[in-house]
Amino acid sequence: MTLTSVIRSTGSFLPARILTNKELETIVDTTDEWIVQRTGIEERHIAAKDEPTSFLAINAAKNALESSGLRPEDIDGVIVATTTPDQSFPSVAVKVQAALDLKPGPAFDVQAVCSGFIYALSVADSMIRSGSMNRVMVVGAEKMSSLLDWTDRSTCVLFGDGAGAVILEKSEQEAQGILSTHLYANGRLNDLLYTDGGVSTSGTAGHIIMHGKEVFKNAVTLMADIVEEVLTKNNVSPENIDWLIPHQANLRIITGTAEKLGMSMDRVVVTVNKHGNTSAASIPLALDDAVRSGKVQRGQLLLLEALGGGLTWGAALIRF
Ligand code: UT7
Repeated sequence: MTLTSVIRSTGSFLPARILTNKELETIVDTTDEWIVQRTGIEERHIAAKDEPTSFLAINAAKNALESSGLRPEDIDGVIVATTTPDQSFPSVAVKVQAALDLKPGPAFDVQAVCSGFIYALSVADSMIRSGSMNRVMVVGAEKMSSLLDWTDRSTCVLFGDGAGAVILEKSEQEAQGILSTHLYANGRLNDLLYTDGGVSTSGTAGHIIMHGKEVFKNAVTLMADIVEEVLTKNNVSPENIDWLIPHQANLRIITGTAEKLGMSMDRVVVTVNKHGNTSAASIPLALDDAVRSGKVQRGQLLLLEALGGGLTWGAALIRF
C-alpha cells in the first residue's frame, strides 16, 4: 500500500494594518509608480508591535483547523516555516501547538527563508508517507517588517507580514495530494540576500540586505529549471497544470516563469499586489486566497515554486 499526503484544509491570517505605496512615499524616497512598475506591489500588511510571528501563525493555523472540521487532538505534529521567530528559541511551532491545545508530538521550525514553506511541506509529506504521522499542520509565518531598515528604499518597499497554513493528511489513494517535492540550495550564493546581524554574531536580528538584480536573474533561471524538472519527473505538460502558485516576490519574476511555461496569467495565482513579499508565508497565503475565492477547486493540479535567501529554491506538484 502506498501512502500519500493530501491537503485537507487551508487557512491564513493577515494583520489588520495596511501600508500603501503612497504612505511609503512619505517614509523613503520612492514613488507608487516605481514600486508598481518594478514589483507589482500596491500594498502590504504590517503587524503591530504586540503581534509577533507566533500571533500570525496561531491565527492562520486556527483558521486551517476550523476549515478542516477536525479537532485539536486529530493533529499529530506542527512544522512552521519562518525566518522571523519571536525568540531565538523556543520555536514558533511549539507556540502554535500550545495555543491550539494540540497533543504532544513533534513541533519545530524550518528555516529556508522564502522557500521555507516548500521545505516544510516536503518534510511533513515524508513524515506522513513513512507512516509515522497521520496529520501534520504546516504553517508559513513571517513578520518581515521586523527585519527591515525603514531608511533603505531598496528593501523596505518590498516586504510584508502574514501567515498561511495547511493541514496535510494521510491518504491511501494513489495520484492524490503531494505528487512530488523538489528542494535545492546553493550556499555559494549566500551573500546575495542576507541579514547583517544574527544571534551568534551581532546579537541582534539585523536588517535585510539584498543584491536585487542578482537575485532576480537567479530567480528567473532557477524557477524555469525547477518547473521543467517537476514536469519531466511527473510526465505532465504545462497544459495539464491548472494553477501556478509561485512565491510572491515580484510580478515580473512570476510573469517570466508563466511565459516560459506558456501559461496565461489567468492560470497564475497572484497576491503580491496585496501582500508584498511575505517570504515563507507567501505561498500558503496565496493558496488559501485562491481556495477561498473559489479559483482553486478539488482535483486540480497545482504547481508551487519558490526561491529565497541561501539561495534556496524548491517546488511541489499537488493534485488538490
Ligand atoms: O523573496 C526572495 C527573492 N527575492 C526576489 O526575488 C527579489 C528579486 N529582485 C527584485 O525583485 C528586483 O531586483 C528589485 C525589485 C529588488 C529591484 O528592481 P530592479 O529593477 O532590479 O532595480 P535596481 O535595484 O536595479 O534599481 C534600479 C534603480 C536604481 O537607481 P539608479 O542606480 O538606476 O539611479 C535604484 O537606486 O531604482 C532605484 N531604486 C528605487 N527607486 C525608487 C531602488 N529602490 C527604489 C525605490 N524607489 N524603492
